[in-house]
Amino acid sequence: MNRLAGKRALITGGASGIGAGIVERFHEEGATCFVADLVGGDVVCDIRDATAISEAVAAAVASMGGVDLLVLNAARPVVGALWDLDDATWDDAVATNLTSVHRFVRAAWPQLKEHRGTVLLTGSVVGLDGSANQAAYCATKAGVVMLTKTIALDGAPYGVRANCVCPGFTETPMLETFLAEQDDPDAVRAYATGLHPAGRLGSPRDIADAFVYLGSDEAAWVTGVALPVDGGLLAGI
Ligand SMILES: NC(=O)c1ccc[n+]([C@@H]2O[C@H](COP(=O)([O-])OP(=O)(O)OC[C@H]3O[C@@H](n4cnc5c(N)ncnc54)[C@H](O)[C@@H]3O)[C@@H](O)[C@H]2O)c1
Repeated sequence: MNRLAGKRALITGGASGIGAGIVERFHEEGATCFVADLVGGDVVCDIRDATAISEAVAAAVASMGGVDLLVLNAARPVVGALWDLDDATWDDAVATNLTSVHRFVRAAWPQLKEHRGTVLLTGSVVGLDGSANQAAYCATKAGVVMLTKTIALDGAPYGVRANCVCPGFTETPMLETFLAEQDDPDAVRAYATGLHPAGRLGSPRDIADAFVYLGSDEAAWVTGVALPVDGGLLAGI
């Protein structure tokens, strides 16, 4: 307990799934949390909107007195091979999953610099390895991994760290929506479960525990890492 005592966290997508798990675990560890989400949360924020991002950061600072942990977790899934994606879908995927990271980090930089803060990002195992029929999602999540490294490099002289957690298939509303769209959801769930040597899907808490570690001072010398939390999915065949 209290591994995050005194830390003030701005968390995107904290109203659901993995983000809600992060909020719960951060509270347990003594952090103060401020959630920016499309629905629910402390401030309504569409992360595709630059003005909304600036306002969300300002609201978090006004509410908590500062931001030590910037948790960029919200994203959207995108299904389709590259040649099947129209411009609007591609642009929306990039705006939601990648450009939002640029804008949030830029807006929060004065806070991160002043408080020697940490940026925590939600990547994906499919940002580290490819996955069929998810071209835009894979590409944007790979971009999140690379932005993690560049934030870590450029932030290090200021004492700012950046790390990325790459979940395997995790039991959240996003996964349930994905499964519900399949012809045989039970078969796809069984297949997805079988990809994980640990023999089960992840829980939001499994993922949130990694965020606690990377956001805490225990990880003071850890930066630029993309950590798979995936029940062994990426360990090998
Ligand atoms: N569930 C999985 O299997 C899985 C696996 C790997 C990575 N991820 C990643 O984990 C993160 C969280 O996903 P989840 O599974 O908890 O999904 P979720 O749908 O349960 O939660 C996503 C949250 O993001 C918010 N959001 C979506 N678009 C937004 C926007 N434009 N502006 C502001 N908020 C927005 C939603 O309102 C929601 O609260 C995402 O980055 C996702 O890509 C999920």
